[in-house]
Amino acid sequence: MSPLLEIAGLSVRFGPVRAVDGVSLELPAGPFGLGLVGESGSGKTTIGRAVLRLARISGGQIRFEGADLATLRGRALQDYRRAAQIVFQDPDTSLDPRMRVGSSIREALHAHHVVPRRLSAERARDLLAEVGLDPGFTSRYPHQLSGGQRQRVAIARALSVQPRLLVLDEPTSALDVRAQARVLGLIARLRAERKLSYLLITHNVAIVSELCGGKCARTSGVQNQRWWCGSMIGSSGSRISSTMLSEGRLLGGIRVLFVMGGDRLDE
Ligand SMILES: Nc1ncnc2c1ncn2[C@@H]1O[C@H](COP(=O)(O)OP(=O)(O)OP(=O)(O)O)[C@@H](O)[C@H]1O
Ligand SMILES: [Mg+2]
Repeated sequence: MSPLLEIAGLSVRFGPVRAVDGVSLELPAGPFGLGLVGESGSGKTTIGRAVLRLARISGGQIRFEGADLATLRGRALQDYRRAAQIVFQDPDTSLDPRMRVGSSIREALHAHHVVPRRLSAERARDLLAEVGLDPGFTSRYPHQLSGGQRQRVAIARALSVQPRLLVLDEPTSALDVRAQARVLGLIARLRAERKLSYLLITHNVAIVSELCGGKCARTSGVQNQRWWCGSMIGSSGSRISSTMLSEGRLLGGIRVLFVMGGDRLDE
């Protein structure tokens, strides 16, 4: 069976800037979490955007369930736009400040014909409850919520279209410690309940251990001028973190991308 997401030799350039240069990774179908850890400017967000087809790739291939994203057109592209969702670091990027929370979620439901229109208000309330918010928040505007609550709404909106792949780009770094812990708990729970597979972008290794840690079984790596990329499956999350970090230090001035494997909860 082909992996859910397969990135092979991905390169993305912005003019002379090589934002991503020869990155390969695989993500199996969920429940599965894969952490993408690297220093600021190392291209993590660009990889996430390329996966969502929000950044034009200049080399390599991205496959979803075996299909090359670059070849998707019409209905197949529409299906992919539903199957893969992204949650940004700043929830305000995903939420329109002029729209009530309920309308924001219903807009996503309508765009992808997830439920008949007459049921969408109820579904929006259910989704808020699923991410641990008061269903009555549907009538609030984003500025009437805390940052952590807004991030939960952004997650609810991403989940509303029943994605199989979620890209989480620093989903908790704008939050205080308590809100961060709640959102991390939520993501872990949703991974199990919804059998989600996600790519978690962060520079906080502790978060990777928490959300992607666990058993691992395979090692692979690609190294070129500027990138080190690999995935490991086989030992505990914390051991992987320290191994990967020491490899990173060995590489000195090279910009480093750490990709760490996660555990399958259904095993
Ligand atoms: N649209 C763009 N146009 C030009 N350059 C860009 C664009 N987007 C990103 N870059 C450049 O590509 C490189 C990678 O940026 P990216 O945002 O992917 O890094 P990152 O790893 O997500 O960093 P951070 O941890 O700070 O979020 C940087 O040098 C950045 O300036
Ligand atoms: Mg980024």
